[in-house]
Amino acid sequence: MAIDLFRLPKAELHLHIEGTLEPETVMELADANGVRLPYPDEDALRAAYSFRDLQEFLDLYYSAMATLLTADDFHLMASRYYATAAAQGVKHAEIFCDPQAHVGRGVRFEEMLAGLTQAVADAERDHGITGGIIACILRDQPVESAHAIYDQVLAHRDSFIGIGLDSAERPFPPELFTDVFTRAGRDGFKRVAHAGEEGPASFIWTALDTLGVDRIDHGVRAAEDEELIGRLAASDIALTVCPLSNVALKGVPDLEHHPLLGLLERGVKVMINSDDPAYFGGYVGDNFLAMRVAGMTDAQAIRLAHNSIAGSFASAERKAALH
Ligand code: ADE
Ligand code: ZN
Repeated sequence: MAIDLFRLPKAELHLHIEGTLEPETVMELADANGVRLPYPDEDALRAAYSFRDLQEFLDLYYSAMATLLTADDFHLMASRYYATAAAQGVKHAEIFCDPQAHVGRGVRFEEMLAGLTQAVADAERDHGITGGIIACILRDQPVESAHAIYDQVLAHRDSFIGIGLDSAERPFPPELFTDVFTRAGRDGFKRVAHAGEEGPASFIWTALDTLGVDRIDHGVRAAEDEELIGRLAASDIALTVCPLSNVALKGVPDLEHHPLLGLLERGVKVMINSDDPAYFGGYVGDNFLAMRVAGMTDAQAIRLAHNSIAGSFASAERKAALH
C-alpha cells in the first residue's frame, strides 16, 4: 500500500509566510483594519489568484499583504499556517518574511516581529514544530534599503536564524547584494537566496560564489547546466524546490516535465516545499501528492522528505530525532 504522504515527517524550508494569506483571511483582515482592496469579495479575490509570471504574482502578493497591520494580524496569519502545516506532516519550519514590504508601508518592524515570534513559539508548544524565521531582502529594492533592513534584523539578532533574498529575480542578480550578505556571514547568520527560479543558472553560481549561501531557493534552472549539477551533487547545498509554484508561475509547463525528480536522481539534494501555498494550489503535503500523480515513487518521496530535514538548519539532535 502507498505511504501516507501527509504523515511523512518533513521540513518546510521555503515558505513565505505572507504567501499563506488565504482569500478569506485577506478579506477578514481588510474588514477588521478598514483596508480597501480592489476586489469586492472573497470569490473575486480568489479568481485573481492566477498568474502569467512571477511579477504578476508579486503584484497581488504585495497588495494583499497590505491588510497586515498589527502584531495580532501577523500572529493570526502565521498560526493558521502552522495548524495547516502540522496536519501535513511538517515537523520543522524555517519561514520567510519580507520586512521591507511591511516597514515600507508604515508597519513597525517590532510589530511584525512580535506577531511572528509569538506564532513560532506557539507552533512549538501546540504542534511540536521547531524552526524559526529567515528575513528576506527584496532584491528589487535599492541596496541601501537592504542594509537598512539588515540593521534592524541585526538589532533583533536572536529572533532570526538567517537572511534570504527574494522578490523579482530578473534583472536583479545576486551579486548586487554581496556586501549585505558578507555582513550577515560575519554576524553568524545562515544565508539563503532565491536563484534560478525565473533567472538563469548563472544566478545560482553567483549566489554560491559571491553571496556564500548555505542553501538555494528554487534552483530548478540548475537542470540546464551540467557543470552546476555536478557541483551541487558533490556538495551539501540543498535546493528548496517548489513544484506547484513553478507550474503556477509558468516556469515549467507541468509537473510531468518538472526537473525535480531528474535532479534527485543525479544526486542533487532537492526537496519539496510550497513557496506561497495560498496562491499556488496547496501546502507542502499537497505538493507531495501532486508529485505522486506526476510519477514520484514512495522511495523518492522518502528521500525528498529526508533531504528537507538534512538540509534544514535544525540542530544535529533535532535532525536525528526526525530522520
Ligand atoms: N516572494 C514570495 N514568493 C516569491 C517567489 N516565488 N519568488 C520570489 N520572491 C517571492
Ligand atoms: Zn520563494
